[in-house]
Amino acid sequence: MASALMPTYRPSGPAFVSGKGASLFDTEGREWVDLLSGLGVTVLGHSHPRWVAAVQTQAAHLVHTSNLYPQAPAEGVAEQLCRLTGMGSVFFSNSGTEAVECALKLARKAANQRSQTAPTHFLAIEGSFHGRSLGSLSVTSNSDYRSPFAPNLEAHFVERNSLKGLEQAFAQGPPAALIIEPVQGEGGLHALDDAFLRHARELCDQTGTVLISDEVQCGLGRSGPFVAYAKSGVLPDVVTLAKPLAGGLSVGATLACADLSKTLQPGDHGSTFGGGPLVMAAASVVLDELTEGGLLEELNPKAEHLTAGLDDMVRRHDAATERRGRHWMQGLVLPGQAVAAQQALAARGFLAGTAAGDVLRFLPPYVLSHAQLDRALTALDETLSDLLQPQALPSIP
Ligand SMILES: Cc1ncc(COP(=O)(O)O)c(C=O)c1O
Repeated sequence: MASALMPTYRPSGPAFVSGKGASLFDTEGREWVDLLSGLGVTVLGHSHPRWVAAVQTQAAHLVHTSNLYPQAPAEGVAEQLCRLTGMGSVFFSNSGTEAVECALKLARKAANQRSQTAPTHFLAIEGSFHGRSLGSLSVTSNSDYRSPFAPNLEAHFVERNSLKGLEQAFAQGPPAALIIEPVQGEGGLHALDDAFLRHARELCDQTGTVLISDEVQCGLGRSGPFVAYAKSGVLPDVVTLAKPLAGGLSVGATLACADLSKTLQPGDHGSTFGGGPLVMAAASVVLDELTEGGLLEELNPKAEHLTAGLDDMVRRHDAATERRGRHWMQGLVLPGQAVAAQQALAARGFLAGTAAGDVLRFLPPYVLSHAQLDRALTALDETLSDLLQPQALPSIP
């Protein structure tokens, strides 16, 4: 039967009906190891007992009242996020795209408040991905995504890690905001250099430009520290978080530094569902598990093992030309073969992703066990050996 869904995705492979930890189970009861967390979302894995209990309890009490009434769970999570990030206030929405959209609006308003002739354009980085709404799409560098929806907001794109490119872009007129991903996800797992981020901070300080760190994919410990910008020592003005924040429920968060914490006033922005009690109950468990629960600490040795394993693949397999990314957000560059490798890994029961065409991408749940990681590395090793002789690649059962 023809699907009634708009054909924006091409779903294929197994249909999953349940999950436990880093494992998924399909309609036939077959087990698959999740190395992608949906799309960087399910950091606590599937059916995490504390998460399930919190969501069930909250659902039995209260799910929605709107932001017209005080929202104690949202207050708690916002306070927790500000404490963990050094930011001053939070706006909750329902996705990464919405978190970015709010950040762009906030930056525009801040610029307009400073000057009647404030800049209106944005600066972003080549390879960026910030979402699919008209604003977030405008600062997404892939023109295939943008051009069908032209005209976009005015945005310019600076070469990744080019200090000179950054200086030239600011010299042509500072933007309303510079938006960066400390580690690009969709763009191919490229990390921005600390020196580039520091220079970006200096130029933003000199010109009064808002610096936005989009950590929808690389934040919340995925690329190392709780917030990815901490690695460079650079404090942005605005931070966006989403994917893993509520462990699988829809959420977005836009965090503003103390100076910008009251820029958005009543009537400036809103969301019917954002910050609702159910999703906040889930987010509270995720934040507790990552921090006091020790999950981020436990990730360190596993991330080192993954790094060493992928470096080893690059040394031993001609198909793999480079390891990219950081910590628990990594990929292997397999020119022309990333999709074949993804499918061959799936045929062995391991679900990875791709990025930017040539990168085999791994964003595993943080609860992936050492044993599962070892099995995944063995499967990857076999897959890369088979890539040399395509007839040996197994097909998905
Ligand atoms: C860095 C970044 N920003 C924004 C988004 C958009 O998030 P969402 O798909 O939740 O709207 C994504 C999604 O992949 C992302 O990786």
